[in-house]
Amino acid sequence: MSKCRSCGEPAVIDLPRHNANFCSEHFMQLCHRQLEKAISDFDMLSREDRVLVAVSGGKDSLALWDMLLEAGYHADGLYIGLGIGEYSDESGVITRAFAASQGLKLIEVDIRNEHGFDIPTAAGVTGRSPCSACGLSKRHIFDEVAQREGYDVLATGHNLDDEAAVLFGNTLRWDIEYLRRQAPVLTAGNGFGKKVKPLVRLTEREMAAWCVIRGIDYVVEECPMAVGNKHLAYKDALNRLDAASPGTKASFYLGYLERMQPVLAEHADVDAPSSCPNCGAPSASADQPCAFCRLVDSATGHDAIPVRMVLNKKARKIFDAQWGSQDGK
Ligand code: AMP
Ligand code: FES
Ligand code: ZN
Ligand code: ZN
Repeated sequence: MSKCRSCGEPAVIDLPRHNANFCSEHFMQLCHRQLEKAISDFDMLSREDRVLVAVSGGKDSLALWDMLLEAGYHADGLYIGLGIGEYSDESGVITRAFAASQGLKLIEVDIRNEHGFDIPTAAGVTGRSPCSACGLSKRHIFDEVAQREGYDVLATGHNLDDEAAVLFGNTLRWDIEYLRRQAPVLTAGNGFGKKVKPLVRLTEREMAAWCVIRGIDYVVEECPMAVGNKHLAYKDALNRLDAASPGTKASFYLGYLERMQPVLAEHADVDAPSSCPNCGAPSASADQPCAFCRLVDSATGHDAIPVRMVLNKKARKIFDAQWGSQDGK
């Protein structure tokens, strides 16, 4: 039986990138240290801020909400019902149960009730990839709700694996603009609210362990619409490198944060966007509705398209295995 590096008691987790094992108490201390380091290095939050945590029902955002509360931050939750069949139903149930169990405030936005469409239908009628329609909608709603409800900052559960995979994709394409902007903090300005990613120093596996240790129930399945996308392929590639050489993934991403991002950010253009004539959100042009309003415009007024219908063949197989074909042929 392996022993905790800090206290010598039996360990519950091995962390190859730290070349050590930890008991649950010292593992949780390590998570809090990494959280606080991200928060202070990037001036993400203060204990006076009203924080809105975007909670999906997955391990990362639930762990983030739990950790922020434990660390003494004032944090409420925001859950968006995206209408992705049973996956969304289950995510909603789990998120509500967590909030209720701790007496927390959870703001809910059901995208079909409030905007007249759901993600599978938006993807089906516009031909956009589901993840791009989903990302665009979430970003818009995060900003809209945080500003309307007077929150100082919106926090998401993007972890080190997520950010390393995005960085890998941006690097493979040498997409300098994205490389410039891939920061763990987006400061408020130009009509946007402040957004932070406090889990960038913690991995997916560590967040799963956090939930297990704390007894937090979370949705284990990946979003069925994301199956087979490039982001997951990049994650997989990085995990293989990391298995062969532990710490590679973390040093790739953390090295970018420390050495590359500051250099790139110095040369960033400060673009002042116009406001969407329809909703007032920042937009590329004052004459044209913003990308979200255009999505709403084309995606509303259609019968709901079932999730399964907008998946490619490979994703459908995985979807059927996980969720059955109850959602339509
Ligand atoms: P994803 O875009 O699924 O990789 O999720 C990244 C982060 O966005 C999560 O860690 C959450 O903070 C947030 N998020 C994703 N889905 C939702 C949702 N349905 N409602 C609220 N926040 C979400
Ligand atoms: Fe956005 Fe799956 S959660 S496409
Ligand atoms: Zn210990
Ligand atoms: Zn708009």
